Amino acid sequence: MREIRLDSVPEPGVYPYTLPVVQGLARHGGLELPSPVTFLVGDNGTGKSTLVEAMAVAAGFNAEGGSQSFGFSTRASESSLGEHLVLSRVAGNRPRTGYFLRAESFYNVATEIERLDQDPGSPPLLPAYGGVSPHERSHGESFLDLVVHRFGPKGLYLLDEPEAALSVHGCLAALSRIRELVQAGSQFVIATHSPILLACPDATIVQIDTSGEIETVEYDDAEPVALTRAFLADPQRYLYYLFADDA
Ligand SMILES: Nc1ncnc2c1ncn2[C@@H]1O[C@H](COP(=O)(O)OP(=O)(O)OP(=O)(O)O)[C@@H](O)[C@H]1O
Ligand SMILES: [Mg+2]
Repeated sequence: MREIRLDSVPEPGVYPYTLPVVQGLARHGGLELPSPVTFLVGDNGTGKSTLVEAMAVAAGFNAEGGSQSFGFSTRASESSLGEHLVLSRVAGNRPRTGYFLRAESFYNVATEIERLDQDPGSPPLLPAYGGVSPHERSHGESFLDLVVHRFGPKGLYLLDEPEAALSVHGCLAALSRIRELVQAGSQFVIATHSPILLACPDATIVQIDTSGEIETVEYDDAEPVALTRAFLADPQRYLYYLFADDA
């Protein structure tokens, strides 16, 4: 994917077109994805998941997550944005594989993997996930199985807050694997709050603010990095102001 574009706001009064970031996207015409890794950062509710999900739907993934061959649905909650997003690709550069990971519905993906694996007519699926059903691994273990065993070269990977499952060590392991996959021609779009993942070399960090402004920022200026760094430099100062009313 080289660019996403939203040419019109089809239903201005209805979610997701009411979101400032969606209006911002329409105003700017589009969002370029110039690097193999693009991070989306911004405060809670700024619309990162809405955007990642719409990109996934536009790229042909199941809205609840999984690979392009997953078609299950437990509760349709996706917005119609994906139907109106236009993705531009580099000619002749179709991804060979891919995955859409939503932290909040990976449980349903795991159930679908087990169901598909029991189908005698299909090749076994579990080896691609490290050999153990994600239901029998911890949250973080199952995520690392996915990136280590299932993700591969020349893939398109859309991840929504992968750090939700991961320890600091786990984030570092994921970062190392992401780097390896990028060197093997894969592309990632990742919504994250993790200052560790954001340190991925040569990534573009797209920051969304509450008014829908979309800007590219350097690592040191990305909000999760700047705020975490300031907090860790002097936690007591933050706690003093946070709890000032308790006294
Ligand atoms: N199905 C829905 N219907 C109506 N509004 C929704 C729906 N899903 C999300 N929203 C609203 O859209 C806004 C953006 O949500 P979204 O999940 O994209 O935010 P986010 O940037 O991913 O936040 P977070 O960092 O908390 O994951 C939120 O204010 C949310 O309440
Ligand atoms: Mg989100």
